[in-house]
Amino acid sequence: MLTRLLITGRAGAALTGLQQHLTGLTGFDVRVRPLANGNADPLHGLEQLPDIVVLRFQADQTAELTAWAVGQPGSRPPLIVVGPAGNAEAMRLAVRSGARDFLAEPISKSDLLAALERVREELRSRATSARGAVHAFIGASGGVGSSLIAANVAHLLAVQAQRSTVIADMDLNFAPIAHHLDLHGERGILEALEVLDSLDAHALTGYGALHRSGLRLYASTTKHVVLGKDVSASRMARLFDLLARHHQHLVIDLPHSIDDLTATALGIATEIYIVMQQSTLNARNAARLVRILRDELMIPPERIRLYINRYAKGGAMQIEDVAGAVGVPVAGTIPSHYKQMLESSDVGMPLYDADRRAPITKALLQIVQDITGSQSQERHSLLARALPAFLRS
Ligand SMILES: Nc1ncnc2c1ncn2[C@@H]1O[C@H](COP(=O)(O)OP(=O)(O)OP(=O)(O)O)[C@@H](O)[C@H]1O
Ligand SMILES: [Mg+2]
Repeated sequence: MLTRLLITGRAGAALTGLQQHLTGLTGFDVRVRPLANGNADPLHGLEQLPDIVVLRFQADQTAELTAWAVGQPGSRPPLIVVGPAGNAEAMRLAVRSGARDFLAEPISKSDLLAALERVREELRSRATSARGAVHAFIGASGGVGSSLIAANVAHLLAVQAQRSTVIADMDLNFAPIAHHLDLHGERGILEALEVLDSLDAHALTGYGALHRSGLRLYASTTKHVVLGKDVSASRMARLFDLLARHHQHLVIDLPHSIDDLTATALGIATEIYIVMQQSTLNARNAARLVRILRDELMIPPERIRLYINRYAKGGAMQIEDVAGAVGVPVAGTIPSHYKQMLESSDVGMPLYDADRRAPITKALLQIVQDITGSQSQERHSLLARALPAFLRS
């Protein structure tokens, strides 16, 4: 999710200094608003409220803080206060304003980023409490199988775990999920973005294609080229939010490239699945991706799950080698599927429908079980049969 950040206060130069700390930072839409005399409320006259406000005060001027402190706390975005140390009055006002943090000058880049990340985490957990889980899949390299895995995990969530599930295909030019599920809608994600403001849960369904499993696919249906810059990341974030509010699971399949749209999806995701193959090049790319997620998009590492696709036991890199090279544990492996399965997936038949006992299907079921936290019916009944009668009574 793109976080709208407002940096405000009186001294323009100090504000620019703060802004410079954030140069190149993805996931934030940073605005600077110097306050003029007579206007003490940093939010005065703004059309759209920011998600976070960084308010800088000067030693002799705390009018902005006073204005904030007397405002309605519930209707104001979270505040981070910045200013000279040792000003007791400012500290008192900051506390009264419900400020999340007080940063004393001079401020280092890392202090500012850490404070922002704490607030963003708070915003995220607030937003996710009313939302379904969002699972973003991204390949460490092109062609590693992330779309196949995302499509089938989404299908299993719908058909096997019986969860209300939607999948959004962010490859707006090639729309591979439509192929994996043999599912083609008339209207799609781009049309939904156009009418976003008028969409409710019911109208939303008109822009997704319904699979017989109950899974609904939101993909691009346009024949024209779509450039990332032509699609608004903040509107996409709102569409994701809407989809997640009305379903238990939103699966997002991402192309192997990082731009505003991908960063938005990665920011909103409750779990990120990095799919890679067993090679040193893939491990290198995955390690770089993890660093980008952690250091630049500021995503907590516990949200990242690493999967090895087309895994073979005797392969060049073993699980421990991969984990060591990438810097995160391997959450699971997915074997190659055999020829007949390849044919079924090529005609758009989900793997579960083609062969639910195939090793690849079992590996994907394991991912779904890890997501839902429950074991399959089959394992339950096996366990029940194995239990001594007195334990069951
Ligand atoms: N475990 C596997 N066994 C056999 N074939 C696979 C496996 N995983 C993926 N494939 C096949 O590899 C091809 C590429 O897969 P897919 O489109 O999912 O990759 P991707 O990582 O999403 O690629 P892109 O970079 O284009 O987004 C597909 O034909 C798919 O069926
Ligand atoms: Mg793909």
